[in-house]
Amino acid sequence: MGKLVVGTTIVCTAAICGVAILLMKHHKKNSSKWEKAMDILKEFEEKCATPIGKLRQVADAMTVEMHAGLASQGGSKLKMLISYVDNLPTGDEQGLFYALDLGGTNFRVMRVQLGGKEKRIVKHEVKEVSHTTHTKNIMAGSSSDALFDFIVTALAKFVATEGDDFHLPPGRQRELGFTFSFPVKQMSIASGTLIKWTKGFSIEDAVGKDVVGELIKAVERVGLDVRVAALVNDTVGTLAGGRYNNPDVIAAVILGTGTNAAYVERAHGIPKWHGLLPKSGEMVINMEWGNFCSSHLPVTEYDQSLDVDSLNPGEQIYEKLISGMYLGEILRRVLYRMADEASLFGDYVPPKLKTPFILRTPDMAAMHHDNSADLKVVGDKLKDIFEVPNSTLKMRKIIVELCDIITFRGARLSAVGIMGILKKLGRDTLKDGEKQRSVVAVDGALFEHYIEFRNCLEGTIKELLGEAADSIVIEQANDGSGVGAALLAASHSQYLGLEES
Ligand code: BGC
Repeated sequence: MGKLVVGTTIVCTAAICGVAILLMKHHKKNSSKWEKAMDILKEFEEKCATPIGKLRQVADAMTVEMHAGLASQGGSKLKMLISYVDNLPTGDEQGLFYALDLGGTNFRVMRVQLGGKEKRIVKHEVKEVSHTTHTKNIMAGSSSDALFDFIVTALAKFVATEGDDFHLPPGRQRELGFTFSFPVKQMSIASGTLIKWTKGFSIEDAVGKDVVGELIKAVERVGLDVRVAALVNDTVGTLAGGRYNNPDVIAAVILGTGTNAAYVERAHGIPKWHGLLPKSGEMVINMEWGNFCSSHLPVTEYDQSLDVDSLNPGEQIYEKLISGMYLGEILRRVLYRMADEASLFGDYVPPKLKTPFILRTPDMAAMHHDNSADLKVVGDKLKDIFEVPNSTLKMRKIIVELCDIITFRGARLSAVGIMGILKKLGRDTLKDGEKQRSVVAVDGALFEHYIEFRNCLEGTIKELLGEAADSIVIEQANDGSGVGAALLAASHSQYLGLEES
């Protein structure tokens, strides 16, 4: 009997000890898991840091590269492309004009009835086609013909729905502005060759071809009667649309799927090699700032691997730190490492976490903007996107911190780009007695919908400019690029100077 009691006691004690050891191991594993996750987070935060001194170095580098890109073709990573837009809209534009707007996320067709100084935009209709599986297949490597046929088919359908509110004088051809949001070397206002694709497009046989020539061939294939009056980058279109509404607009920035800026350069800022003497003393330059690169940029191992795995390695480095196409993917990469090395989501890496670009930036913004006490939106997104059923509050908080780090870096670097332009134009300081207002028109879903990004960008501009910030206005330009292209079609119309009959 005594032996039985002793034996039972030993077994029980051993069991209790076993459980205790297991619990301790679990606790240790758990706490080392969090420690490891926090180490990864801290290291990432340090590498992404953008103290004001670094930002100033990046702004200086941007200004230097702008000079170099203007001075000689290929002289810089910044292409500084001549847009052939030397007369921005004045408000006098009249008539019916169409625009095509091919961007990274959407393709839009629109028509605008312009009524001159008095009536301004009389009527405006837009048809938006977001890139569905069909267009994504076209984007990801079909043929130039397939892309332009797709564009022109949508245009033809849209022209067919033109109502009586729009007025084309008899005997006249419809004219359009084509917003093409990729780097193009222009030969004139209505011609230019595609330098390369960005933002996940890769239709190889289009590179090096005249974009307008390809569009016209497709127009002829469907038997449509339209004239392409202007070919513009989306930044140039936004600048034109911005100037139409506000004469103080001097630059435009796109913060969307991709990023870029255009600004108004004074004629003496453009060297002779371009063989151009703009009539107005001004010329709009498409910077293609997405391709900017500098040793001062805070680039991490995650950015490097994203770049290596991308369709355009070594290119668009600034864009890959800033724009909507990449922010969610950077977050996914950091989370993947945390899942793999710190078992953030338990003993296995959720398989969906391995899929590149599965986490879109709008979903990241939704998590970042989650104000609920239990971060419910973060939990829901983890479940929906990565199939992580039960996330803890601790995990969710880490994700919000990562959103902060990534977005803060992107927004601060975008602000620096704007600062670089202002410096180049000598508008970054207050001149004695002079109060020159400079308005920068900004468009793109990242700026429009990612509130944390936008707030941080605006705050950083103030931080960089100090008291000069009072004379700089960052203005949201809604859908300016399409209207801008239509306005530029109007100012390059073949009927210019003829009365509307
Ligand atoms: C393109 C630019 C464009 C920008 C914003 C970049 O990827 O290279 O031409 O303006 O995206 O859409």
